[in-house]
Parts: sequence; structure tokens; C-alpha cells
Amino acid sequence: MKQEEIKALNEKFADAAPQDVLRWFLEQYGDRIALSSSLGLEDQVLTDMLCKISKTPKIFTLDTGRLFSETYLLIARTEMHYGIRLSVYFPERESVENLVRECGINGFYASMENRKRCCHVRKLEPLARAFKGLEVWICGLRREQSVTRENMQLIEWDEAHGLIKLNPLISWSEDEVLEYVYQNAVPYNKLHDNGFPSIGCQPCTRAVELGEDIRSGRWWWESPDHRECGLHHR
Ligand code: ADX
Ligand code: SF4
Repeated sequence: MKQEEIKALNEKFADAAPQDVLRWFLEQYGDRIALSSSLGLEDQVLTDMLCKISKTPKIFTLDTGRLFSETYLLIARTEMHYGIRLSVYFPERESVENLVRECGINGFYASMENRKRCCHVRKLEPLARAFKGLEVWICGLRREQSVTRENMQLIEWDEAHGLIKLNPLISWSEDEVLEYVYQNAVPYNKLHDNGFPSIGCQPCTRAVELGEDIRSGRWWWESPDHRECGLHHR
């Protein structure tokens, strides 16, 4: 898609509700659009919205092999609640074995290079497979989440992956997300009640204190402007 078309769509949907944006994109792209869900609060909101628009929404998740047990429980609870099946993508066995042999089982703490390699093997390679046949990926990014996200747009051309990236909740506040979850009884990760506002892999996520930045518990040992796994590189 050309930059001018993206710009025009961003203008068209500047004040639109996320549901209207999702409905329009689903109509346009049929089975060539999918939500990439980490089972985080934003993704659960989007799952709820999608299930209210379509009986067969495409939703996939990347199981890195290092997720919290609460996240696996939530996958099962979400499938039961909405009567859907998430597509779960796993890393390549050989790449994981090489990674662990060369860097150690928890090698990601030793250097940023190791950490990025682990994210590459466990997330980016499976993501490329999940993208097969897709033209649009829906994400739960919000501008407020971090310094690395404050310039993101509702609709973007994702040069790195060669598809359109749709961020329906880009301008939502944390309170709007919580309000939606509460009002619609959306299933959510129980870790959110125990100080985990943002949840990724278990070894790379820790609880934060009240008032602390919501992503400060992710890769907490690295500097804030590097705390991205490569999924959302710009
Ligand atoms: S992360 O990229 O640093 O992990 P975050 O947890 O805030 O970021 O997630 C941002 C968005 O990236 C999610 O809304 C989702 O669209 C996508 N995402 C992150 N992790 C996964 C995952 N394991 N599987 C699928 N999508 C994911
Ligand atoms: Fe590996 Fe941590 Fe990245 Fe998960 S978040 S893929 S465990 S480095």
C-alpha cells in the first residue's frame, strides 16, 4: 500500500471507534487479516471486538516456550469463552537447540545480543510463518505504552514485514482499556491483578510497583529505549 493511501486512511479513521475500523478492515481484507495476540489486556479487548464482528476471526499467538503458566491458562479460557481456536506458532526446534547450546538456557540476561537472538528465534522466525498469506496484521499497541511507541500511527506500512499494520487501540489510555475489559467481562491474565501490567516471557517480565512505568517490568535490565523484541521495529 502506498504512503498516500495510508495517510488518507489515517485521516478517514482519525476519530473512528476501534470497532468501526476493525469492521471496515475485515470487510476489505477477509481472511488476509489477523490479530497477533500476546494475550495482553489490549489483545484481549481486540479479541472481544473481533468476536463480536466475526464468527471466525483469525487470531494467532507466538508461543516462545517461555510463557507464564497463567498465559497458557488464558489461551484455554479465551478459546472456551469465545468458542474459537487460536493459531499457536512455535519456534523451530533446531534453532532453539542451537541457541540454548551456544548461549545457555537463560542466556538472554548475559548480553543484549543474546537477548535479541533469543527473541529472533522464539518470536520473529515464527512470526514470519504466521504472516504467510496475510496482508494486514492487527496489533494491540498504544502510544502511551512507551517512549518507543509514541510516534506510532493507527495504520502503518510495516516495511520490515511487508504488510499493513493496524493498531486500533493506538490512542486509547490504560483506563479506557480497563473500562472495556470490565464492562464486557473480557477474560484476562490473572497476573494483571498481581502487579504485572505488561506480560511477555516469564524470565523477561517482572512485577512493577504502583505508579511505575507499565513496561518497566519488561527486560528491566536493559535501557528503556531498547525494550522492544524486534516485532515492532521501525
Ligand atoms: S512486545 O512486542 O514488546 O512483547 P507487547 O507485549 O506490548 O510488546 O505487545 C505489543 C503487541 O505485539 C501485542 O498487542 C501483539 O499484537 C504483539 N505481540 C507481542 N507478543 C506477542 C506474541 N507472543 N504473540 C503474538 N503477538 C504478540
Ligand atoms: Fe527470549 Fe526473553 Fe525474548 Fe522471550 S522475551 S524470546 S525469553 S529473550
